[in-house]
Order: sequence, then C-alpha cells, then structure tokens
Amino acid sequence: MNISVKRSNNDEAQIYNVELENVTLLAVLNHIKTKLDPTLTYSHGCRSGVCGSCAVRVNGREQLMCEYKPGEGDVIEPIRNVRVIRDLVVDSSIVEHFNRAATAWSEGSHEGKVSEEDASRIETQSDCILCTLCYSACPVYAVNPDFIGPFALTRVWRYVNDVREESSAAKIASVQTNGIWDCTLCGECVPVCPQNIAPKQDITMLRMKSAMMGYQDPNAAMAFGGGLSF
Ligand code: FES
Repeated sequence: MNISVKRSNNDEAQIYNVELENVTLLAVLNHIKTKLDPTLTYSHGCRSGVCGSCAVRVNGREQLMCEYKPGEGDVIEPIRNVRVIRDLVVDSSIVEHFNRAATAWSEGSHEGKVSEEDASRIETQSDCILCTLCYSACPVYAVNPDFIGPFALTRVWRYVNDVREESSAAKIASVQTNGIWDCTLCGECVPVCPQNIAPKQDITMLRMKSAMMGYQDPNAAMAFGGGLSF
C-alpha cells in the first residue's frame, strides 16, 4: 500500500510503498524507518495505547499510531495546534503547561477509604494518557493558545470530583479564566479520545459546580448583565 507522510522539510507529502497488511501505523513507520528511510522521524513508547506519545493525524483525523491500522492512500501528518519539531514529532510541553495552569493534580488530599461508588465517579477521567489528541481537535485552542483545553479541564474535574481532595475550591477558581467558559461545547474533543473520555461533559459539570459556588459565565454576564449558562 502507499502511505503519504507530510514531512517538516518538504511541503509535499512523501509517499512510501510498503508491503504490509493488517498491522498498525506504528509498525508501518517502523518498517519505513528500518528498511526504506532512516531519516523519517516520529515518536512512540509503549506500543499499546498507554503512553500517549504516538499521536498523529490520519486523513485529517486524530489517531494513535499504535492503535490505528492504515489503508491504501492514507495521509499522515503531525497533530495540530502544537509546534512541530521534526516530521511527526511535536513539542509536548503544553501538557505540563496546562496542567500547571489548571492545578490539575491532587493537592492537600486526605487519606481515607474510598468507596467503590466514589472511585467509579473518577475512573474514566483517571484514564487520560495525555496524548493531546483533544488539543489537536479543539477549535477554541486553535485560536486561543491560552485556553486551558480539554484534557486539563477533564483532569480538574477528576480531582474536584475526588472525595479525598481538599483543594477543590482553588481548582475551580483556576479554570474560570481561559477555561470552562471559553469552551464552545462543540464536542470535537470527544470522538478523538482513545480512552473514551468526554471532556465536553466534564467541562459542563465544572460549569455547574462553578455556578453552584457563585461563579458566572462572564460572556453571559456581559451580554445580559448577569445570568448563568451551562
Ligand atoms: Fe504509547 Fe502509542 S506508543 S500510546
């Protein structure tokens, strides 16, 4: 099959012909690198959908290379909204940057027994692998690089929703600007998540929690002189 790869040193996509079938895109790129073109550059780690380091776009859609099985004529390119370092390798420092901006980690949590029900409420969000596919798909982040986008907001909801967390109020405060109210709830982040997380839903929950704590949607407040919107 023919696979096209958009490379950083060339405006034209480079076409490779490989005699492989029913294998992952990562296996195809490994074949190209070892047999056809050692200069092709991409990143990967676990090869099993866990580390999140092999994010790319295929035919305009976000995918993990270690999970996607390519077909004839596929076009591979780096994910969007991040700096390309070389070929399919991008600068992933946004992970740390937005986790910091949103304080998306456990702070001042107390130890204690967590019931199965409490654990199940944060189980899905805890599965985030920080692949940043949701940032690539996010149209708000595309025009506002300060937007605390999908994965960081999902992680904030995970900690706010954790019964052990003692800093929930501070976390809610940290996502009021360039955060939950800037999301358009378009849902582009949902189908691209390899872990079946729905950041749109988590952002909606953060909005409801914020409203209960007295915060307002600044856009609605400006337009109508007050009011709330989820
Ligand atoms: Fe780790 Fe694909 S190589 S998620």
